[in-house]
Amino acid sequence: MEPIEGELALIPLTLDDIDDGMALVTEAGWNQTPADWRFMLTAGRGMGLRGDAGRVVATSIVLPYRPRVGWIGMVLVAGGYRKRGIATRLLRAAIEHCRRQQLTPMLDATPAGREVYRRLSFAGGETIERWRGAGAGAGEPAGPVDVDLAARMDRDAFGADRRNLLADLAMRAGAPLFQRHGSVLLGRRGRTATQLGPLLSHDEAAALALCERAVGAIAGPLLIDVPVREEALRGLLASRGFGVERSFTRMSLGIAAPMGEAMRAIAGPELG
Ligand SMILES: CC(C)(COP(=O)(O)OP(=O)(O)OC[C@H]1O[C@@H](n2cnc3c(N)ncnc32)[C@H](O)[C@@H]1OP(=O)(O)O)[C@@H](O)C(=O)NCCC(=O)NCCS
Repeated sequence: MEPIEGELALIPLTLDDIDDGMALVTEAGWNQTPADWRFMLTAGRGMGLRGDAGRVVATSIVLPYRPRVGWIGMVLVAGGYRKRGIATRLLRAAIEHCRRQQLTPMLDATPAGREVYRRLSFAGGETIERWRGAGAGAGEPAGPVDVDLAARMDRDAFGADRRNLLADLAMRAGAPLFQRHGSVLLGRRGRTATQLGPLLSHDEAAALALCERAVGAIAGPLLIDVPVREEALRGLLASRGFGVERSFTRMSLGIAAPMGEAMRAIAGPELG
């Protein structure tokens, strides 16, 4: 018989839990890799729950983006453990952690997560669309990129310091990285597709050009998460055969700054 959820204690997650985390990612059809878990568990605080077989069956991670954002991601509950209030418990613990650190809890909710968060008083903001398509594979991308420039633009647009995230993405082996004048596009290899983002640019035409270059250069499946306000970018993606796979709602518990205009595509729902 399955254990009653109330009997299971929340536990801190460590790097030893990455294999179990990957099993949850695969079950949910998500795109994260062990490198993503490694970054998030090192930079942030993971909490989870171990099932009766000793495996981690539920996860959540809070990434502290100082000075004020606590980004909550990787909220995953294994199929057989859902609808018992486990995600709600993990969220309550994450919110409490944020409060102690004086961080505003924020997240990008899937349709499945949205109702859970709403009941916890998270309020919705911008809609972000996930576009999926394929790259033309005409040549591998050339790095490196100016991480300081990216970090400055990202801090203004996101409202908190994510230099450690951007530096981690920029250092990954084979990462697709593009830069043109004052615009930067970072990417990472995923479990099922290459994820593009963040795309940072004050200039729309430059952002489109960078995206076009990436789609032309990278081979295979591509994902990019684009705020709905980015009409021109969405038009470009549609013209290259991309389609919207699903959408996320950016939510916060408390007041959060709206995304700045330079954030043309986000890093991803698990990272903000
Ligand atoms: C979304 C997800 C995390 C929710 O996890 P969960 O542990 O099932 O969530 P909870 O149990 O806290 O709440 C889910 C529902 O169960 C209900 N519930 C909670 N405890 C319950 C209980 N003891 N008995 C019956 N129902 C219960 C909740 O009221 C809620 O109702 P709803 O279906 O109307 O929304 C899970 O479905 C999942 O991993 N999905 C795939 C990944 C994903 O989308 N993650 C969210 C990222 S933002």
